[in-house]
Amino acid sequence: MLLSSLLKKGLMFLAIVLVGSVFFQRNLVLAAFQTNPTQGSIESVARGEQIWALNCLSCHGPEAVGDGPASAQLAKRPKDLTMIASPPFFPDGILAFRIANGKNTMPAWQDILTPDQIWDLVSFIRSKAKRPA
Ligand code: HEC
Repeated sequence: MLLSSLLKKGLMFLAIVLVGSVFFQRNLVLAAFQTNPTQGSIESVARGEQIWALNCLSCHGPEAVGDGPASAQLAKRPKDLTMIASPPFFPDGILAFRIANGKNTMPAWQDILTPDQIWDLVSFIRSKAKRPA
């Protein structure tokens, strides 16, 4: 009796943790299904390059390989963004989500840049991809 009630409590707890974490990651899960509205057009890449030069180049470098002038000062250097897998393996929406929300030393840009500007940055980063699509 005692065991089964403990088991029930345990299962209840697990269910709450599971639902809670899905809820918490809801935006990330939804982001995975978003596609780039600019479809990575030449114009979008050009706009993205300008925004990149102003906001991202200092840490990520001109070619997005992670060798910006400020990168040596960072506790953790940014990864080579040209090696990110193309969609559907690494969706554009997740890339946009990371730029908007930041991660550790990577600043969040959602209050500084517009969603359109973030998509232009996604276009720019994709244009640097070294992996075949
Ligand atoms: C202050 C330095 C700095 C600036 C400025 C910066 N980043 Fe980052 N970025 C980082 C670091 C460090 C990481 C690695 C974070 C980690 O994984 O801990 C990162 C990671 C990323 C990632 C990969 C996230 C992932 O899922 O692994 C993307 C994409 C990215 N940055 C895009 C950008 C864009 C676009 C800009 C300009 C709007 C920008 N970053 C500006 C430091 C910076």
